[in-house]
Amino acid sequence: MNIEHSRAWQTYLAQNARSRQHAARAGQRIPSGTSRSLLRHPPFPFYIDKTDGVTGIDIDGNTRIDFHNNYTTLVHGHGHPHIIAAVHRQLAHGTTYSAPGAQELALAEYLCERVHSLEQVVFNSSGTEAVMVALRIARAVTGRNRIGKFEGGYHGWSDFVMVGGHGLRAPNDPVGVTAPHADVGGLPQAACADVVLMRYNDVEAVREAITIHGHELAAIIVEPIQGAGGVIPAQPAFLRALRDETRRAGIVLICDEVITLRHAVGGAQGYYGFDPDLTTMAKIIGGGFPVGAVGGRREFMACLEADGAVANLGTFSANPMTMAAGLAAMELLDESAIAHINSLGDAARAKLTTVIERQRLPAQVCGAGSLFQVHWTEVPLTDARAVESADATRNLLTFLGLCNRGIQLSMRGIGALSTPMTMSDIDTLVSAFEDTVREMRDEGFC
Ligand SMILES: Cc1ncc(COP(=O)(O)O)c(C=O)c1O
Repeated sequence: MNIEHSRAWQTYLAQNARSRQHAARAGQRIPSGTSRSLLRHPPFPFYIDKTDGVTGIDIDGNTRIDFHNNYTTLVHGHGHPHIIAAVHRQLAHGTTYSAPGAQELALAEYLCERVHSLEQVVFNSSGTEAVMVALRIARAVTGRNRIGKFEGGYHGWSDFVMVGGHGLRAPNDPVGVTAPHADVGGLPQAACADVVLMRYNDVEAVREAITIHGHELAAIIVEPIQGAGGVIPAQPAFLRALRDETRRAGIVLICDEVITLRHAVGGAQGYYGFDPDLTTMAKIIGGGFPVGAVGGRREFMACLEADGAVANLGTFSANPMTMAAGLAAMELLDESAIAHINSLGDAARAKLTTVIERQRLPAQVCGAGSLFQVHWTEVPLTDARAVESADATRNLLTFLGLCNRGIQLSMRGIGALSTPMTMSDIDTLVSAFEDTVREMRDEGFC
């Protein structure tokens, strides 16, 4: 059956008439009807009117439990009173200043206390900027030009990291070190030429890349759990080898914790006992406002001193609204809050897996802590090559079927839990998933 004739598609059209009209009108002035490329999906996105706690309500009045949480950002859901109070207090004192605000020190001290590899930190306005600055520090410190990244790793949308996300080799292809393809149009040729692409969770690929290119690599950047690439945890031995090999070769090791900082009080690096040179952060540390941060040991951060080689610019960097909201959000995310969302994550993965096994579906669930993702593939999920083998039609049908039943995941199927959620939200998700896949099976889609 053609996907457009499926019940999931037709129900979506019926439930979202206003969003359909809005999308058509928005498409006249905004390409594809939204500025955010990653939020576009067929047949059209639903548009949010308001949010409250764990739910979002769209302009047709549909209420959905938000397991998307703006790509893992809203770790306390929507409108947490502690964060709202901090924002109101700051609003009365100004939204942005013409001299340094006093507010950033508190968040800087707090993060350095929590995350063991941070001695100093600077703030900017997105994870993309944080990664951009970290790469510049690495180039300035080493005097080298190229960077190493892993297949499927997403590090924002600046030129040198928007490569190697897609068009990967087959899972059974033994080649582990390759030249990346561009993920989007408009990149300079250098973006591909200056990046060495390695297979994730592949120690031999790291060794081979460093043997051949180590002398020209300024940095290797890695997510301890690949987020947008499929919510795939690193194997501890892989991170250990990466640390040893980069140290030996004088390559700056950047740990991208933009998504994974929520994993433990000290971030995923604390959980793994991983000791990077630089760390990039964003999302949860802004309490729902735009944010980025890069931090690390003084010997690397010294580049950012007034007489150093690298600048951290940005009109809104370290803006006081973000600093106030971010500190409030991070204070709330203590050990017991993290234990709560991580145990809900364990339950979500276990219960979704039970449905998959009971229905004998060619799918699996992966993830760690408070993050999970359903993948329509049976290839073992250790890297992005396995993720690329998943069935895109089934994925879209699952997304639409869940939307129709009051559940929002990301389009790719990533779920990120928030602290106000309870086991009843997990049970609602699992029963909506079971109904969705039953409908897909009845129509011959799986
Ligand atoms: C691991 C990682 N790094 C960097 C970024 C870029 O962050 P931002 O979207 O704030 O620019 C993202 C965004 O999803 C991410 O997942």
